[in-house]
Amino acid sequence: MTKVKIAQIGLGYWGPALARNVASSARAELATVVDLSEERRQFAKANFPDVAVSSDPEDIFSDPHIQGVIIATPAATHFALAERALKAGKHILVEKPMATTVEEVTSLGLLARQGRLTAMVGHTFIYNPAVHYLRDIINLGELGQIRYIHSQRLNLGRIRSDCDVLWNLAPHDISIVQFLLGDPMPLSVQRFGMDYVQRGIQDVAFVNLVYPNRVMAHFHLSWLDPHRTRTLTVVGSEKMAIYDDTKERKVAILDKGIDRMAVEGTNMDYDKARFSLRSGKVFEPDIKWEEPLSLEIAHFLDCITLGIECWTGPEHAAKVVKILADCGPSTTPLQPGAGRLDTGATDIPSTVWKQ
Ligand SMILES: NC(=O)c1ccc[n+]([C@@H]2O[C@H](COP(=O)([O-])OP(=O)(O)OC[C@H]3O[C@@H](n4cnc5c(N)ncnc54)[C@H](O)[C@@H]3O)[C@@H](O)[C@H]2O)c1
Repeated sequence: MTKVKIAQIGLGYWGPALARNVASSARAELATVVDLSEERRQFAKANFPDVAVSSDPEDIFSDPHIQGVIIATPAATHFALAERALKAGKHILVEKPMATTVEEVTSLGLLARQGRLTAMVGHTFIYNPAVHYLRDIINLGELGQIRYIHSQRLNLGRIRSDCDVLWNLAPHDISIVQFLLGDPMPLSVQRFGMDYVQRGIQDVAFVNLVYPNRVMAHFHLSWLDPHRTRTLTVVGSEKMAIYDDTKERKVAILDKGIDRMAVEGTNMDYDKARFSLRSGKVFEPDIKWEEPLSLEIAHFLDCITLGIECWTGPEHAAKVVKILADCGPSTTPLQPGAGRLDTGATDIPSTVWKQ
């Protein structure tokens, strides 16, 4: 089998996980790694001894043997590198978010289409078996009508300076919720955040989304929390589900809810109804586990070799970036000693996404 030649730009905190999965794939060859940092290039040489190491991304773009380029650099650099790679005829897998504006994502999508190339964003959770399980039971109606989804993505650190906590963490939650609900656009978006650690860069944010059919989503995002928490709760009219990414059994389906009981003579009239709280069994399914990054890389290789449509292509990526942008800016000037409150609320036409 001829291996797909992959190059990677960026080998900082997250890059090694991607590179490890490419290097261990039987279908790919990690040919070149590029990083601006001398220290990261030394790391590359020590950990991937058979791989060419460079400080210049042009070495990748000008190499006719490289088919796919993974971009794992800070978000602000994604667009320029991705555009250059596509113009050089390379398939791209760009870390989240794909770019920092909807226009940039749309432009990458257009370039990819013109060049018959894959443009994929690394929304890792869309390749997570537990998230797929959740999506499947939602689609089968097991939870009933979805009422709301509540997600907590909390940590002490890792403090970034190139973006705020929203742009760092919310791409995960937004992409998961979009995936679970079938990718509709929210009707309204609102963010409240504060910059406690670095002035002008929010480290804690609460995000509220309202979707059609009275579905709400709420994210609590923080670099300033005592516990590492990765919990997503889905409340449905029939049952509820909890996805805890820190657990071995990641999904629990809870037969919990509130049932309306008919009271004699009332004919289920809302005002006169009585309610019973249902607290039944908890089911923890045995979900076949595979590392999401390995599945993500396998999907990228399928897209390159089979030309299949990417699950996390520019259309999905643009929706995530649009929602992030509609959360409003994080850089409102501060009064000395004061925190800051940002909100953004917009109606988003659902047609925005169709090119
Ligand atoms: N999917 C996930 O779960 C996940 C987790 C963490 C980070 N990420 C994403 O991965 C990306 C990188 O994040 P990180 O935490 O590894 O950042 P990082 O700052 O630790 O590493 C970025 C690396 O890119 C290098 N770099 C920067 N600009 C470059 C350029 N023009 N050419 C070559 N090298 C360049 C830097 O020297 C650095 O080594 C971000 O987009 C982030 O959102 C994704």
